[in-house]
Amino acid sequence: MSEPTSAYKGPERVFSGVQPTGNLHLGNYLGAIRKFVNLQHEMECIFCVVDMHAITMWQDPKELRAQTLEIAAAYVAAGIDPEKAIIFNQSAVSGHAELAWIFNCVARMGWLNRMTQFKDKAGKDKERASVGLFVYPNLMAADILLYKATHVPVGDDQKQHLELTRDIAVKFNNEFDVENFFPQPEPLIKGAGARVMSLRDGAAKMSKSDPSDLSRINLTDDPEAIAKKIKKARTDPEPLPETSDELKARPEAENLVNIYAALAGTASEDVLTAYAGQGFGVFKPALADLAVEVLSPITAEMRRLQGDPAFLEKIMTKGSERAERIATPILRDVKRVVGFL
Ligand code: TYM
Repeated sequence: MSEPTSAYKGPERVFSGVQPTGNLHLGNYLGAIRKFVNLQHEMECIFCVVDMHAITMWQDPKELRAQTLEIAAAYVAAGIDPEKAIIFNQSAVSGHAELAWIFNCVARMGWLNRMTQFKDKAGKDKERASVGLFVYPNLMAADILLYKATHVPVGDDQKQHLELTRDIAVKFNNEFDVENFFPQPEPLIKGAGARVMSLRDGAAKMSKSDPSDLSRINLTDDPEAIAKKIKKARTDPEPLPETSDELKARPEAENLVNIYAALAGTASEDVLTAYAGQGFGVFKPALADLAVEVLSPITAEMRRLQGDPAFLEKIMTKGSERAERIATPILRDVKRVVGFL
């Protein structure tokens, strides 16, 4: 797979997105949204609600609209300043679809056949999966490269898609002989929240689609629900050890320690220094208190904002206009490079 490039001379720019498919959870917050909040002070940032990705699986239109507004509310409630960063929904800027088509013709079937997310989402009956689900990663590459974004904050599960994006960028640059036209975007994945696991199974990631609501902490959960889910989280009878290495064979315990570290903004080692020798009878209530302290204000603000859909729609209309202004000259250049009249 391709290595980062330093030869690209364009401005640094962040792009990332979240699908409006319901059940926004702690993994989405720690793996992605919280990173967005920090990055807005460092670089130009574009944060998208990827409604076109959402419809690769069936979505009820009414719910899709509500969930699109919910993600916008979550962005703002978490601390993204819509005056500073761009917040918009993907379908409002047609360049995403146009560039995705070109990338459908750049990416190879073999590359897409290797995508593990398609295999997971399509399940056993691949014949019945939408074609959109198969070419999903090409649309994701288009999202990022439509703005020549150089940095992409995501959770660990998006790593393979980012590698594909880089491969598409390299192939486009090589085939059309336009050196460094597209950057090779750098994934920003590291940190304790990069892979938040299910509270019921330390081997599965926390996911919107897990049928058990006890497996995840939703951003809409109230303090009682958060405390209950952490109390019921699967663990083992051993006390917490002194080093992270000793947690390796204890995935559920490791997950809770990582969640604590990510919420507190420290390293797992620091959490273990404070709690080594303690059992989950002590650790779980402390974790629940911390989770409520961090998430409750966001949940409350999300609810308030969702009560004002006109405000959220205004943010996204303005955001899509700003996004369009960046995308238009880039897409014009792409079309010229490809040979469109
Ligand atoms: P989505 O909507 O599934 O998830 C949104 C973000 O949350 C992260 N995430 C997690 N992080 C840590 N632990 C977890 N358990 C966990 N679950 C989800 C995801 O990694 C993601 O960062 N394909 C993307 C959306 C997308 C996108 C893009 C992202 C479309 N275009 C362009 C970046 C750039 C997705 O399905 O995310």
